Amino acid sequence: MSRPVIRPRRLRRTPALRRLVGETQVRASQLVLPVFVREGATEPVPIGSMPGVVQHTRDSLKAAALEAAELGLGGVMLFGIPATKDATGSGAIDPTGILNLAINDVVAEVGDQLTVMSDLCLDEFTDHGHCGLLTPDGEVDNDKTLAAYAEMAIAQAEAGVDMVGPSGMMDGQVAVIRQALDAGEHSGVSILAYSAKYASAFFGPFREAVDSSLDGDRKTYQQDPGNVREGVREVLLDVEQGADIVMVKPALAYLDVVARVRDAVDVPVAAYNISGEYSMVEAAAAHGWIDRDAAVLETLTSIRRAGADVILTYWAVDAARLLAR
Ligand code: PBG
Repeated sequence: MSRPVIRPRRLRRTPALRRLVGETQVRASQLVLPVFVREGATEPVPIGSMPGVVQHTRDSLKAAALEAAELGLGGVMLFGIPATKDATGSGAIDPTGILNLAINDVVAEVGDQLTVMSDLCLDEFTDHGHCGLLTPDGEVDNDKTLAAYAEMAIAQAEAGVDMVGPSGMMDGQVAVIRQALDAGEHSGVSILAYSAKYASAFFGPFREAVDSSLDGDRKTYQQDPGNVREGVREVLLDVEQGADIVMVKPALAYLDVVARVRDAVDVPVAAYNISGEYSMVEAAAAHGWIDRDAAVLETLTSIRRAGADVILTYWAVDAARLLAR
C-alpha cells in the first residue's frame, strides 16, 4: 500500500483551514447592479426572461438604489427604456429623456454612497435597435455615431453621473467621449469602457429587458467569439484613449479573455455577468436542477479568480446578502 507524503487534502480538512487558504474573495463593494428604468411605468414590470429582475418606475428605481447602497454594493449601472424610439435615438441626448432623469434621481438619492454609472449606447433609444446611427443604406455609421455619443456623454454628465459606460463598440468611442467630457468641464467623470464585447447569444434575455427593436445582429461591431488577441487589442486601444476601467463582456464564456486582459493592463478590469448567464442559472434552479445560491457564489468567485476586479451582475443584491451570512 502506497503512503503519500504530500497530502493537499490536509488544508481542506476543516472550514477554518479552507477559509485560511482561500485564494479568491468576493466582496459586495466589487459588485455593480445593472438596473432598468422604464419611462411612464406606474409599477415595476417583471422581465419574463429574467425571473426576479424588473423594469423599474422612477420611484422603485430610487428604492432599489437605496437598498444597493445599504448593502454596500460598489455601484449601479442604469439602463433606460424610453416610451418612444426614433432613427437617431434622440431620447438618449434629451435632458428630460428617461435615462438622464433616472441618473438625476439616483444621484440625488444615493450619490454620496454609490458609484452611479450609466449605459452610453443608442440601442435602447433607436427604432432600428442598433447601437449606432445608420447610413441611408442601413450600415452602422461609426463616425456619425461618435458625435452622438459625445452629446450623450455630456447629457449624462450634466445629469450628475459618476461614470459612463460606452457599450456600443464603435471605433474611437472612448477618445471622443473623453474629449467631450473634458471640453464640457466634466473631467471628473470616469469611463468604464466595454472594451472586449462579443457578439454573444447570451445577450438574449437583455433584449427583452430593454424592449429591443433589433432585427438582425451586431456582428459588424461586436467581436467574434473566437477572438482573444483582438479582445486584448481592443482593451489596449481603450486604455490609450483614456478608459479608466476596461470591461470584458460576457463573462463566463470569456474567462480566458478576462485573464489575458488582467495581465495586459494596469487599470481595473471589470467583467459583465450578463443576462443569459443569469437566466440559465435561474431557470435550472427553478426546475430544482441546481443549488441556486451556491451556483451564484461559485459564478462570481470564478469571475474574480479569472482576474476581474469589478463584476456587473444581476445577482449583486442577493450575493451581498449571501456574503454577509
Ligand atoms: C448595449 C448593451 C447590451 C447589454 C449591455 N449593454 C446589449 C447588446 O449589446 O446587445 C447586454 C447586457 C446583458 O445581456 O445583460 N446597450
